[in-house]
Amino acid sequence: MIFNKKGPLKGDINIPGDKSISHRAVMIGAIANGTTEITNFLQGADCLSTINCFRQMGIDIFNDTAAASVIVKGKGLHGLNKPKDVLDVGNSGTTMRLISGILSGQNFPVTITGDESIQKRPMDRIMTPLGKMGVDIKSIHGNDCAPFIINPTYGHSHTQATKLKGIHYNSPVASAQVKSCVLLAGLYADKATTVTEPALSRNHTELMLKEFGASLLTKGNTVTIDPAPVLTGRKINVPGDISSAAYFIAAGLIVPNSEIRIKNVGINPTRDGIIKVCKSMGAKIRLENIIDQGGEPVADLVVSHSELKGIEISGHIIPSLIDEIPIIAVIACFAKGKTVIKDATELKVKESNRIDVMVDNLSAMGADIIATDDGMIINGGKPLHGTVVDSKYDHRIAMSFAIASLMADGETKIKDAECVNISYPEFYKDLEELIQ
Ligand code: S3P
Repeated sequence: MIFNKKGPLKGDINIPGDKSISHRAVMIGAIANGTTEITNFLQGADCLSTINCFRQMGIDIFNDTAAASVIVKGKGLHGLNKPKDVLDVGNSGTTMRLISGILSGQNFPVTITGDESIQKRPMDRIMTPLGKMGVDIKSIHGNDCAPFIINPTYGHSHTQATKLKGIHYNSPVASAQVKSCVLLAGLYADKATTVTEPALSRNHTELMLKEFGASLLTKGNTVTIDPAPVLTGRKINVPGDISSAAYFIAAGLIVPNSEIRIKNVGINPTRDGIIKVCKSMGAKIRLENIIDQGGEPVADLVVSHSELKGIEISGHIIPSLIDEIPIIAVIACFAKGKTVIKDATELKVKESNRIDVMVDNLSAMGADIIATDDGMIINGGKPLHGTVVDSKYDHRIAMSFAIASLMADGETKIKDAECVNISYPEFYKDLEELIQ
């Protein structure tokens, strides 16, 4: 797909539903009793993979794609059926890692796989804690990646899974997918399960499980869940995804004369690192109409073109902006001085190696950027020019370069640009509507 220099951006935009929350609403709805009605559900390919997996396990799910509303007929903690086939999560790491926690408590074995990218992503990070909880889980190719088999009935009767062991897991990574996997398995444990992480990752699982009736206690970076709650289906209105809003925040800040209102954006403090970082860089971002939506804070963001300066981004803020680092790297190219991004090795194990892919592509466009072991260093202010950019089929890379192209001289050609379908199918249309 070809992109050209354009702008300014003006007007209002409604952001589609949060990917993390949409996944969780289907998963927790499926193991709750009764009906869960989800509005503003993200119709991205990743969330559709979650719906398909639960349909394969006998859960009735009605998806009105045009209205972005989904109804899940939950069957309780033990109501899933053995799927006839292998569960395929496509490109979705969240589906794979979270569903594994739930499958560990069922009374049937199951094989999980996904696309080429996900078959390279590390799954030992969930296999280790699930193994400690007593789950028999094996990578089929012995490489700690998918495909893998979860056999909760291993060594026991094939009609009843034994209870998992409640553990205290000290996670070596600040990962919401790992934390959520262990907490969901904790629903099926013999006693309370605790997860401590090195820095606080997104807490949507904790907030949603509580809304459905589970008992959880969070103290700093440690959360404990009690087993065997009665989860009750409910209504969930999914906030707009701040990770999708991030591309428009960036465009509003870097394209001269822009002023936009990004409506209904989730600003959960475990996700709002992009707002904090941009403000430290000098960004003009105003939060208006702040409300609470089922425990999740939501606001409109009013963003206008700003003079930005480079900063250091490191430490505990990293998990709260981990998916936004590619677009922050683009923003840093338009800031005065040096931006240093540290403590972000997790970027290497996302849908692509996001350090290498950002550095290669931004360098090709003329940016002054180098990769480091745990991040990147950008010296802002060098003009960008169009070139061929390889998205590596990573949605967040494609969207980042669509924004960079607005400020690049000449044509930017993004390979596999359609991969935005994973998290934001209407992205290019929505962007075009804001451009004057
Ligand atoms: C997610 C957690 C993050 C994030 C991913 C979604 C989630 O991954 O990068 O896009 O919904 O829990 P990690 O837990 O691997 O950091």
